[in-house]
Amino acid sequence: MESIGIGLAGFGTVGAGVYKNLAANRALLTQRLGVEFNVRRIAVRDLTRPRTVEAPAELFTTDLDSLLQDPEIQIVVELIGGTDHALRFVRAALEAGKIVITGNKALLAEHGAELFALASERRVPIFYEAAVAGGIPIIKTTREAFIANRFESIHGILNGTSNYILTRMTAAGLDFATALAEAQALGYAEADPALDVNGWDAAHKAIILASLAYGFWIRAEDIHVAGIDSLTRDDIRFADQLGYSIKLLATIKADEQAAVEVRLCPTLIPKTHVLASVNGVFNAVWLRGDVVGDALFYGRGAGQDPTASSVIADLADAAAALASPRRCYGFTSHDLYGRLKPLDEAVAQFYLRLLVDDTPGVLAQIAGILAAANIGISSVIQPESHEPGPLPLVLMIHDASFGRMREAAERIGALACVKAAPALLPVEHFH
Ligand code: HSE
Repeated sequence: MESIGIGLAGFGTVGAGVYKNLAANRALLTQRLGVEFNVRRIAVRDLTRPRTVEAPAELFTTDLDSLLQDPEIQIVVELIGGTDHALRFVRAALEAGKIVITGNKALLAEHGAELFALASERRVPIFYEAAVAGGIPIIKTTREAFIANRFESIHGILNGTSNYILTRMTAAGLDFATALAEAQALGYAEADPALDVNGWDAAHKAIILASLAYGFWIRAEDIHVAGIDSLTRDDIRFADQLGYSIKLLATIKADEQAAVEVRLCPTLIPKTHVLASVNGVFNAVWLRGDVVGDALFYGRGAGQDPTASSVIADLADAAAALASPRRCYGFTSHDLYGRLKPLDEAVAQFYLRLLVDDTPGVLAQIAGILAAANIGISSVIQPESHEPGPLPLVLMIHDASFGRMREAAERIGALACVKAAPALLPVEHFH
């Protein structure tokens, strides 16, 4: 039986999960693949740290480079995270001709263009299923199963922690801080949940997915990213009254001029849409291809075992690539698309929540600014208040460009009768 040497860089939650599940399903994997995986080295930062998964002590090293120097290691699995050591390590691995598997979304979102160019030059593949939506095989699906398609749109719920928080805010009426504390207590959110709630974890995943689907590398600084940290219970409640759920949604779509729109922000979606019923820590990707039509993928986007499932699937692909070298090294650029649509040009419907004085003429001033910008209002909610002081005013806006809408919201925010920064969220109808 042929044996394939693996070097694991990182033995945190996911690395340990890969080791554990390779062992647990060893016989099945070997029978399915006709080769045996042999973890030869595990690089960690601290040899003394207690581990929840056992592995022979002689496998552990603090020397990352020793994985690259071992000629018997054909595949390295980068699960150290961050973009510092990980970047240096992945570059060096490709230079050394080792197949790379990584779950590092920040690394690929920020350095994908460079790393895939190097992979292609060295004719060494990079596999990265675990980087996007944990256990959902959306990379392989996009790259292989749907290779016949032009992607008209891809929408995704790509961060389990923020989806859990939004679910609890919606179902139990919790405020953001309480729902976050609950997610942390249950071990869903990271100790520092900043990337989960500020949108960047999901944005990195959206960048990878969009780049793969549209064949050109999308830069993080060019897309619109907003998190769920400024949403209020009122937003959830008003959206609900209007027939919508709020999701931290990746919206990726191409227009007829082959310009691609990518944004990641809290978005109102109709409660009747299938993505509205993706709750708790689950992720989902709903995509539309010109050949396949609509397709939906649902599953766990984080956690030891679901993410290990994706890494092990990459190991199987890597084993196949060793047996029969391919022309694709993980990302294929093409020139069907190639232009990112500036956010200001993208058109959407909007939800605009304001906090306003309860005095005559307020609505007229706000409507006047919108009318001057040629922006139509489709509905208004202003709950009657029995308390003194400012009260919320919600306007649903017809199609407008982000540029025009943001400018109008700024002008509205500057009115003396408007007492807090306006909350502006797009509405997605998936047409
Ligand atoms: N922390 C992420 C989530 C998983 O909550 O979905 C890793 O990207």
